Amino acid sequence: MSFKVQPASPAQPNRCQLFGPGSRPAIFEKMAASAADVINLDLEDSVAPGDKAEARANVIKAVNEIDWGNKTLSVRINGLDTEYWYKDVVDLLEQTSGRLDQIMIPKVGNAGDIYAVDALVSAIEMAKRAEKAIHFEVIIETAAGLAHVEEIAAASPRMRAMSLGAADYAASMGMQTTGIGGTQEGYYMRTPEGEKHWGDPWHAVTVAIVAACRTHGLLPVDGPFGDFSDDEGFTAQARRAATLGMVGKWAIHPKQIALANAVFTPSEAQITEAREILAAMEKAKAEGQGAAVYKGRLVDIASIKQAEVIVRQAELIS
Ligand code: COA
Ligand code: MG
Repeated sequence: MSFKVQPASPAQPNRCQLFGPGSRPAIFEKMAASAADVINLDLEDSVAPGDKAEARANVIKAVNEIDWGNKTLSVRINGLDTEYWYKDVVDLLEQTSGRLDQIMIPKVGNAGDIYAVDALVSAIEMAKRAEKAIHFEVIIETAAGLAHVEEIAAASPRMRAMSLGAADYAASMGMQTTGIGGTQEGYYMRTPEGEKHWGDPWHAVTVAIVAACRTHGLLPVDGPFGDFSDDEGFTAQARRAATLGMVGKWAIHPKQIALANAVFTPSEAQITEAREILAAMEKAKAEGQGAAVYKGRLVDIASIKQAEVIVRQAELIS
């Protein structure tokens, strides 16, 4: 229990974050025209080392020249263990003006990583007399990121969102898998009948990210699902993430956008049920009761907060 009120997350829709390599400018207009809430132009792992400088120039031009509408526009910079990241930040901030909303910092390991980028961004914004502060989103995708997830969430007022990066996370943790998200062959319980019961190897880190985000008022986001020909696998992964409190998921192919939006937009049935629960509790309150029965099950004061989560999501999206 804490006397501190849990901070609200930023009121920005974040159901789907669409990625595209900075080295592939031919898709930028398609990304801008997509139904994703957030656009992530990538300078990191989808760009080959020899293409880094050109990708950076492409992305700067795209931030300045393409009409991104009301999308949240973000660029994923290179990791702090590379030679590229400082120039990503300096060139991006010095050579764009006003449209960029966020930079995504990959492979963060501790609050010091955020501090370093914050110091550089702050100096550039001072020098530019910038009117708008750039926000940060980060990827939790290393053992250190998971171990220090809470101090990372609290590291800067620029922080807005945290994503789970399943592939790098699995590698860093030494997990015996090459899958990017979803069900993994080796992760099952054996039922007494001798059948395989699949577990979720991403559960622990997902919950850690959601807890850190909710404690510090950030948006928790599920990262990539690599097999973009497996729609049902994507949807199952997204539903698990939504059930655990995440607000959205990455798309690494345009066909995943509608799948993510479908899962992270509360359905009419969910909204109706939430409103009915709120009405049932209003009625109970008027009658001096703290609990009521809704469709044969208990609802009480905690149910109001649960229902309000869904109603708030629906209002934000509409
Ligand atoms: N955003 C918008 N449009 C995209 C796109 C993207 N990320 N990826 C592909 N498209 C477009 C293609 O240009 C093509 O358009 P067209 O119908 O007008 O010709 C259409 O979608 C179908 O593309 P498809 O041929 O199925 O895919 P591809 O072989 O061109 O590309 C990937 C597949 C996976 C290489 C590509 O989607 C991609 O680079 N994804 C992002 C990878 C990334 O950023 N990773 C970093 C985060 S993990
Ligand atoms: Mg990664």
